[in-house]
Amino acid sequence: MTLNPDDFDLTEPELYRNGFPHHVFSTLREKAPVWRHPETAGFKDTQDKGFWVLSRYEDIRDANRNSDLFLSAEGAGLGFEGLGFMLTDMDGQPHLRERKLISSGFTPRMTKRLEDKAREWAVSIIEEALEKETVEFVQDVAYQLPMHMIADVLGIPIEDRAWLFAILNDMLLCVDPQHPVPESQRDSLAAEIFGYGQKIAGQKRAQPTDDVLSRLVTVEDELGRLSDLELDAFFMLLTVAGSETTRNAISGGLQTLLALPEQMDALRNEPSLMKSATEEIIRWTSPVAYFKRIVAEDTEIGGVPLLKGERISLWYPSGNRDQEHFDDPFRFDIRRTRNEHMSFGGGGPHFCLGAHLARREITILFEELLKRTSHIEQVGESGYSVLGIGNPILVSLGKLPVRLKAA
Ligand code: HEM
Repeated sequence: MTLNPDDFDLTEPELYRNGFPHHVFSTLREKAPVWRHPETAGFKDTQDKGFWVLSRYEDIRDANRNSDLFLSAEGAGLGFEGLGFMLTDMDGQPHLRERKLISSGFTPRMTKRLEDKAREWAVSIIEEALEKETVEFVQDVAYQLPMHMIADVLGIPIEDRAWLFAILNDMLLCVDPQHPVPESQRDSLAAEIFGYGQKIAGQKRAQPTDDVLSRLVTVEDELGRLSDLELDAFFMLLTVAGSETTRNAISGGLQTLLALPEQMDALRNEPSLMKSATEEIIRWTSPVAYFKRIVAEDTEIGGVPLLKGERISLWYPSGNRDQEHFDDPFRFDIRRTRNEHMSFGGGGPHFCLGAHLARREITILFEELLKRTSHIEQVGESGYSVLGIGNPILVSLGKLPVRLKAA
């Protein structure tokens, strides 16, 4: 069957029911690398203008790095206008300033402490899973580590974590008709998270402890401190950006290794491959589907004119399968050496702030998992949840039942 870009609808949730539609991305790269996505009936868009889709590695990378021409001001998601005070919605000097203040929370001492915590969490999560033997890997393992790590970064008490992250999960998944919580509750769920973030930030201000959030409520430069709004937005950004993404990499990584037993065995037998395996897992799973930008002035990409004010979307999973950039891109290879994937962005000023932490979490989780098991098998169907085109994560592996055999 010949695919025609004009027949595609990237806003249709069912397109993602089995994960990313790589056949669609391949056709776009080949036939319409700068493609104008039409307005669609199902896409709740405030502007009704459609959007541009960039699918080739080099176009995505160049647009990502040209932050004067392609602005972040209207937010990362196609369904949102942006709040203006979230790091992902800012440009130029204000973005640099806020990023610098936030980065100052991740001191080398803090990062080292987080890595030690990641190992402790990984061991206890896996030990608990081994006791059960048959587990829902996404919920029981992959979800747990990033959730606890972000909660450690923010200094969220252990007893609040299950409650808070369940609300977060409902807020993200309620757009999926298969999720039991209706979409009508999204705003009230978001309000609960903001409210909780404000409470915690207030507590840290009154009584700072040894976590990143305590540092952020007190850190200042010549323009002063981060405002309450900026702190609220950062709380929301981190809870989503830091947990969902890394979870998808871990669960998608295991799903892929289970489908390719020779790669799983190689990784078990040669732990030195863990570093390149981590990069390959991140390339292969591409946990963020796209980020949106706004065209600052009339321009063109590959001879296609783009007008000021139009929206473009940069599709990272597509860039990560571009044969012009990767050798045999549809081969999952834990030994891949040249692997400049774009899962954390294309190297522009918004490059993922949590890339180092995410990489370490994935490596540590797989190291401990493979050390403590002699065999892992899938014991039921895997399944995806669709977060909708409005959310840059868009799709998430929701189910992966496995049986673990202790080493
Ligand atoms: C495998 C896991 C992850 C993936 C694939 C991922 C991916 C991304 C991507 C694609 C961006 C946008 C880059 C751009 O526009 O150039 C981003 C930004 C960001 N990420 Fe991540 N991320 C991951 C984990 C994390 C973690 C663990 C944290 C927190 C500790 C985090 C915090 C952030 C923040 C704060 C930004 C906004 C940076 C800015 O706007 O300046 N991410 N991430």
